[in-house]
Amino acid sequence: MSVPVEIDVETLKCEIKKTYAQVSTEPDTNFMFPTGRAWARDLDYPPDLLMNVPDGSAESFAGVANPFSLGHLFPGEHVLDLGCGAGTDSLVAAQMVGPEGRVTGVDMTPEMIAKARAGALELGAEHVEFVESEVERLPFDDETFDVVISNGVVDLIPDKDAVFAALFRVLRPGGRLQLADVTIQRPVSEEGRRNIDLWTG
Ligand SMILES: C[S@@+](CC[C@H](N)C(=O)[O-])C[C@H]1O[C@@H](n2cnc3c(N)ncnc32)[C@H](O)[C@@H]1O
Repeated sequence: MSVPVEIDVETLKCEIKKTYAQVSTEPDTNFMFPTGRAWARDLDYPPDLLMNVPDGSAESFAGVANPFSLGHLFPGEHVLDLGCGAGTDSLVAAQMVGPEGRVTGVDMTPEMIAKARAGALELGAEHVEFVESEVERLPFDDETFDVVISNGVVDLIPDKDAVFAALFRVLRPGGRLQLADVTIQRPVSEEGRRNIDLWTG
């Protein structure tokens, strides 16, 4: 259940876009969170697939864990990568599902989408597309995807009910969710929930 948050959601989205635009355009910055190919290696991404992800995508990887540790994807599957960032997970997924499958990455930060598209082009992955959109307003038909993956995104969105409603709408019956995210054991204080830096970091 979503906790009511006294925060201006549009301001929060602007700050999130600013942070992740910088992860895209200035990947060498010292962020509050780990980034880059070495971090993906630490998270045990399959090395043979990670090595094929172009540097431009991998250097802006900003995931929090490894959604593929929850299970391999299968050839022919149609995958949605929710909050795909610069596309590392989408391009790993693209190699798992093969050319008979499809991967659709969605992100609201245009700089991330641009980098993800460049990565797909460099990899020659024609079965991958990237769409600029908010998670809460997914522009897809009901029951489109076999699997939804996501990495470090749901925690950034205050309205969790809207996120899960969107996910379950586009996931086909019997489909799979492989979410890597931040969870907490105790409620966050009112003051913490109002602190935009805690949300964006
Ligand atoms: C921590 S980064 C993770 C990116 C990518 N999943 C990865 O592992 O590198 C979070 C991403 O979520 C995107 N994002 C945050 N809130 C979003 C929303 N409401 N709709 C779409 N994208 C969102 C940001 O633009 C950013 O690229």
